[in-house]
Amino acid sequence: MTHQPEASAFSEYLAAQENKSLLRFLTCGSVDDGKSTLIGRLLYDTKLLFEDQLATLSADSRKHGTAGDDLDFALLVDGLAAEREQGITIDVAYRFFSTDKRKFIVADTPGHEQYTRNMATGASNSDLAVILVDARQGILTQTRRHSYIVKLLGLRHVVLAVNKIDLVDFSQERFNEIVKTYSEFVSDFGFETLVPIPLSARYGDNVIEPSAHTPWYDGPTLLEHLETVQVANDALARPFRMPVQWVNRPNLDFRGFSGTIASGVVKPGDAVVIAGSGATSRIKSIVTQDGDLNEAAAGEAVTLTLTDEIDASRGDIIAAAGDRPEVSDQFAAHLIWMHDEALLPGRPYLIKMGTRTVGATITEIKHKIDVNSFQRLAAKTLALNEVAVVNLATHEPLAFDPFEDNPQTGAFIVIDRMSNLTVGAGMVDFGLRRATNVHWQALNVSKESRATQKGQRPVVLWFTGLSGAGKSTVANILEKKLHTEGRHTYLLDGDNVRHGLNKDLGFTEADRVENIRRVAEVAKLFADAGLITLVSFISPFRAERRMARELMGEGEFVEIFVDTPLEVAESRDAKGLYKRARAGQIKNFTGIDSPYEAPEAAEITLAGGVDAPEAMADNILGWLKDHDYVN
Ligand code: ADX
Repeated sequence: MTHQPEASAFSEYLAAQENKSLLRFLTCGSVDDGKSTLIGRLLYDTKLLFEDQLATLSADSRKHGTAGDDLDFALLVDGLAAEREQGITIDVAYRFFSTDKRKFIVADTPGHEQYTRNMATGASNSDLAVILVDARQGILTQTRRHSYIVKLLGLRHVVLAVNKIDLVDFSQERFNEIVKTYSEFVSDFGFETLVPIPLSARYGDNVIEPSAHTPWYDGPTLLEHLETVQVANDALARPFRMPVQWVNRPNLDFRGFSGTIASGVVKPGDAVVIAGSGATSRIKSIVTQDGDLNEAAAGEAVTLTLTDEIDASRGDIIAAAGDRPEVSDQFAAHLIWMHDEALLPGRPYLIKMGTRTVGATITEIKHKIDVNSFQRLAAKTLALNEVAVVNLATHEPLAFDPFEDNPQTGAFIVIDRMSNLTVGAGMVDFGLRRATNVHWQALNVSKESRATQKGQRPVVLWFTGLSGAGKSTVANILEKKLHTEGRHTYLLDGDNVRHGLNKDLGFTEADRVENIRRVAEVAKLFADAGLITLVSFISPFRAERRMARELMGEGEFVEIFVDTPLEVAESRDAKGLYKRARAGQIKNFTGIDSPYEAPEAAEITLAGGVDAPEAMADNILGWLKDHDYVN
C-alpha cells in the first residue's frame, strides 16, 4: 500500500534535479490535523499537479463533499479508496515536488494512534519533521509521542505547524500559548531548529504566501522555510560504512561487494575492514554502471572491489579500517513498539540491522518511558506505541555503531517470526560489555562421548497440551518404561519446576514465555549430558515451542501434542483448577481466559480424550524405536 514510485523513476527524477539541494521531510500529527490537506496544498500551489489529476480531484471533492465547493486536497494525497472511506491515511505516501530553489521528498504518515509504525518509517528517512497541531486542540498526547519519536530517530529540524488558525480567528494569543507549551515540552530534545508557523492548510494562509490574516506573524511561510532551512548531511562526515547487499561474482575474474554507502566517503586505496571477521584489505576500485569512480559517498549505490581475496557476504559491513564499528551480540537500546500484540521478553524475534537479519530476544525491559512526562516506569511487557529502554541478545554477533554516533548503522527493526510484520524499531545505545567479556569454554568431554557412554541417543521429548490433558501421566509412564529398559532419562514437569527454578514466575504471557525459555535451556543442558529428556509443560505458545526446537540439535526435539479436548480436560479437573478458573478465582487459565495454540506439525499427536495413557506411552515408544532413537 506504500505509494512508492519505481526505483528507476525515482533516480531519474533525482538525476534531473541534480544541482538543486534535496530536502526530505515528513509530516505528522493526529487524525484530522490536516496533514494530507497541507501536502495537497503544497503540491497544488507549487503547480505540481498534472491536469488530469486536477480533474479527478475536483470530481472527487464534489462526490465526497467534505470541503464544500473548494478542492479537498486530502483526497489527492490519501489516494486509496478504502482509506478515504475510513477517513484516515494508513501507510507512508512519498511525494516529490520541486521549486526553483529546492527539490523535496515528503513522507506523509498516518496520524491514527495505531500507525506509529509508519511514522517511524517515514521519519527514519527524513531531515525535518513538520508536526501539525490543530489550533483548537493544541498539543495532544499524540503530538508528544510523535515528537519524542522524531527525536529518538535523530531528526534535528522541526516545524511546529499550528494549523486551522482560521478556526481560532487567527488568534495570536492562542498561537503563542501552543508554541509555549510545545517549546517547553521539547526543550531537552536538542532540536537545531524549531520554527512555529501559524497556518491554514485549507485556505493556504502562510503555506506559500504570507497571510493577510496574521499581520502579527513575521516569520517565514512554510514553503519559504522549507526552501531555505540548512540541514547538514551528517552522514558524509561520519566514518565510512557500507553494508553488503550482495556479492557480485559474474565470473571467476571478478568479485565485488555491492551495496549503498551508509556513511562517509570512500576512495581507491583506502584501507578497509570486514567488520565481523576483522579481515582487512584496500579498495581496488569503485565500480558503477557508468564506469569506475575516484570517490563515492553516503547514499550512492556502488560495487567495491578489494585488493585481497577476503570473504564477505550479505549482511557484513565494509568499514574504514582506522575507525571500525563495534561488534557484539548483546545491546542496550531504545525501542519503539508498534504492534497490537505486546512485546514479551524472552520471545524469539528477528532483528534487521542494515542488510543483516538475525534471531534475537529482548532479554530485559529496563524501563518504559512515559511520553508525556518522560518518567521511567517499570514494565514487564510493552504495548502498542510504547517506548522503552531494553537489553537484547542476538543469535550472532552484529557490527554496529551506537545510534548517536551513526544513525545509519545504529538503527534496527524488530520483526515477528510468525507473521513477518515489523513490530518494533530500535536505536542501539551501546553494546553490553558482558558480551565481549564472556566466552564459550570448550569442554573436554563432549556431548557425543557422554551419550556413547550411556549407549543412547539424547533427545528432548516435548509434551504440550492443556492442563489436565494427561501430559504428565503419559510422560511418567513412558519414563518408567525407558528406565526399565536401561535408558538414562529425566522428566522435567511444569508443576515441579515451578516449585524451584521457576518459582518466581506466574501465568501471565510474559511469565509463561520466560518459564518455557528457562526449561528449554535446562532441557538442552540435559540432552547435552546425554539424557533422554522428557519435558511436560503446557507450553501454550507456538513461538516458544519453536524456540525450544531451534535450541536443540537437528533431530533432537520431538514435539508430542497430547490433544485432549477442553471439555474432557475440564471434566476430569483432577486439581479442581478449572472450577476455580470458571469461578474467576484463577486468572489467565489456559483454555479459559488464556489461549492455547495447538501445534501445526508435531512429530506425534495423541488422542488424549480417547486413548488410555498406557497405550499412548506405548505409541510414543514405538515411534522412538521406528525412528532409531532407542533400539
Ligand atoms: S506453562 O503454560 O507456563 O507452560 P506450566 O506447564 O508451567 O504452564 O504449568 C501448568 C500447571 O500450573 C498446570 O498444570 C496447573 O496445575 C497449574 N496452574 C496454575 N495456574 C494456572 C493457570 N492460570 N493456567 C494454567 N495452569 C495453571
